[in-house]
Amino acid sequence: MPLRIPAARSAAMTAVAFALSCAPATAAAAPPPDTLEARLLACTGCHGDQGRATADGYYPRIAGKPAGYLANQLLNFRDGRRSVPSMTWVVGHLSDDYLREIAAHFSERHPPYPAPPPPAVAPEVLERGRRLVLEGDPSRDLPACTACHGDALLGAQPALPGLLGLPRDYLNAQFGAWLNGTRRAMAPDCMATIARRLPPNDIAAVTAWLAAQPVAPGARPAARAPATLPLDCGGLGR
Ligand code: HEC
Ligand code: HEC
Repeated sequence: MPLRIPAARSAAMTAVAFALSCAPATAAAAPPPDTLEARLLACTGCHGDQGRATADGYYPRIAGKPAGYLANQLLNFRDGRRSVPSMTWVVGHLSDDYLREIAAHFSERHPPYPAPPPPAVAPEVLERGRRLVLEGDPSRDLPACTACHGDALLGAQPALPGLLGLPRDYLNAQFGAWLNGTRRAMAPDCMATIARRLPPNDIAAVTAWLAAQPVAPGARPAARAPATLPLDCGGLGR
């Protein structure tokens, strides 16, 4: 891995990790080795070992997501399209190239996914969620989630994220953020359009079903996105 990052930045990242005190403290006085891995302790301090997420899911998984998707999110945080103060602070001064390098690093990590928790909703709600995810609802122009996120819902290279292995709270929070404008993607923001086509009880059903699905060992995003998508989405490099 070529080291193109000035030492000052590395020191800043390390400072972030310790200032936030969510990275494991080290007793040694010697400076940490200057590797990308060492600098990214700032990230894994919050996002869990290798970016696997914390057990409660508050800090989401970043490992194994398509590199273009991760890079888009880092740019979205840095440039204010996605408002999460801790993330904006961490990436605020990093260059596009460095953000892409970080994204590539985490996209290549594949720690196993934990088993999903048992669903906390009635079977009818789960069934409604399943149908909306797999079939959409043509009566209100709602495409199936699989039409973009892939039949296996594992996402696709370079920039479509998977929808499995994410906690329900995280999924609900993302829909809330699209609706209140604190999460925006590069234009056109197809997910904001989709979120507006889902009333709250349907969002609840969809997220309950998604969060209850296991992720098979070795699951990876598809090599490419579906040839045509039901809506235009920005940031996909098409
Ligand atoms: C202080 C804790 C903290 C640190 C440090 C931190 N993050 Fe985050 N990160 C968060 C939180 C909280 C979210 C969830 C935001 C939300 O709910 O929308 C997040 C979200 C993300 C996402 C979006 C995930 C997705 O699926 O859309 C990415 C990518 C990400 N972080 C990468 C990083 C990287 C890379 C670093 C290190 C440079 C880092 N984070 C450091 C707290 C942190
Ligand atoms: C027209 C294509 C399209 C359809 C249909 C679609 N999505 Fe998306 N979705 C996207 C794109 C593109 C992104 C990445 C947005 C970004 O860069 O922030 C995304 C991102 C997401 C994310 C963020 C994942 C993360 O890790 O933070 C969630 C959650 C999501 N979609 C849920 C859904 C659900 C649920 C449905 C079905 C109701 C759906 N999507 C249908 C294109 C689509």
